[in-house]
Amino acid sequence: MSENAVLTLPDGQSIELPVLTGSENEKAIDISKLRSQTKHITLDPGYVNTGACQSGITFLDGEKGILRYRGIPIEQLAENSSFMEVSYLLIHEKLPNQKELDDFHNEINHHALIHEDMRHFFESFSSEAHPMAILSAMVASLSAYYSEASGAASLGDVKQNAARLLSKIRTLAAFSFKKSIGQPFIYPRDSLSYCENFLRMMFAVPAEEYEPDKDVVDALNLLLILHADHEQNCSTSTVRGVGSSHANVYASVAAGILALWGPLHGGANQQVIEMLEHIRAEGGDVNKFVEMAKDPKSGFRLMGFGHRVYKNYDPRAKVIKGACDRVLAKLGVEDPILDIAKQLEERALSEDYFKERKLFPNVDFYSGIIYRAIGIPVNMFTVMFALGRLPGWIAQWKEMMEDPKSRIARPRQIYTGPIETPYMPIEKRK
Ligand code: ACO
Repeated sequence: MSENAVLTLPDGQSIELPVLTGSENEKAIDISKLRSQTKHITLDPGYVNTGACQSGITFLDGEKGILRYRGIPIEQLAENSSFMEVSYLLIHEKLPNQKELDDFHNEINHHALIHEDMRHFFESFSSEAHPMAILSAMVASLSAYYSEASGAASLGDVKQNAARLLSKIRTLAAFSFKKSIGQPFIYPRDSLSYCENFLRMMFAVPAEEYEPDKDVVDALNLLLILHADHEQNCSTSTVRGVGSSHANVYASVAAGILALWGPLHGGANQQVIEMLEHIRAEGGDVNKFVEMAKDPKSGFRLMGFGHRVYKNYDPRAKVIKGACDRVLAKLGVEDPILDIAKQLEERALSEDYFKERKLFPNVDFYSGIIYRAIGIPVNMFTVMFALGRLPGWIAQWKEMMEDPKSRIARPRQIYTGPIETPYMPIEKRK
């Protein structure tokens, strides 16, 4: 039986609005006819209460701290799966059988090289350039090489474009790192797994043999799985928003990469390590920084803390925190900032300020400590996030393009500027 909500407006008119229920019993009031029937719009800065789509990809319950991809709990995927399998699950809507997984992996390997001309683009970037700036520019440039991928046409071969993107972003990310340290590019090698291939392109040098460490490969798989999708966050909404104009998938993902870069979103993982290093440099006193975070006048926030949706411990942070000690011990790495991070968390969570606002560590709080332990430089952390989030962006873009109800994203506004004002000739202006 369909349910309705009734909205009564100040002018006395009243409208019935359908109430939709999701598969996990979340409720939404469908306001799609509101403006045409009442001339009113809704106002919701930051879209805190606004659902922009119906999606079957990721479920998250911020109050209970639940995250599932296609119904499968993130903890089970982290324990048992690989990044390739999770990418398949997100994009192709089910776990692959062995043959499907092998074919998927082979197709990804097949696309690992970038056009040789694109190599030369790297020469033009300053060695100071942030790798996120390079990555977004290079991913946008892919549109110039795969022009058949323009707009809705790229939906015709999602499989191929998804494989191209997943594969080439890895090569581009590694090349941007090599560029920044002045080492020669290392070309991809098909016999390796996704993560091994990436690590080799990052850390091998032509003069030496390179054997990826199994513990490092496992840690990378884990981190990429945990970042693979997170429903309608800022970067994913950007990918959907840009794609809704039928811009091609490369352009849409390049825009998502730039949205991710911001320090309030994926850029926080770099900021967390910089904050922890700063605390260490100041003698390791976490109290001072917690006090600063509580003071609205300080303008300082605990990076890696708080989340728009999670009002409970972020389940991804729980898994990563658990993995931190294990991975560092296996790799024989002792990192003093892990202790500082734990002290900071303990101190913050004991404070009413954080309890009342339900602020917990998010995915970015501990991830950087593992990235650092496996040799990823701090300015590459957000690039690593982009690599992990890519299958989610592709799956969300595909779902939107295939949804017959999708329309170009075009929010409204309440205008607060001057009312009609006549043009004044320049000689009469003060
Ligand atoms: N440190 C101190 N106070 C905080 C923090 C923090 N990290 N986060 C939120 N608050 C406070 C705010 O000052 C505000 O207090 P008030 O009610 O007294 O004004 C209250 O908690 C609510 O915060 P909002 O900014 O309104 O929450 P919003 O949902 O808009 O923002 C966000 C969420 C951006 C993640 C925020 O918590 C933040 O800036 N965190 C630090 C950056 C970060 O870690 N980002 C990564 C998020 S995860 C991801 O994107 C992958």
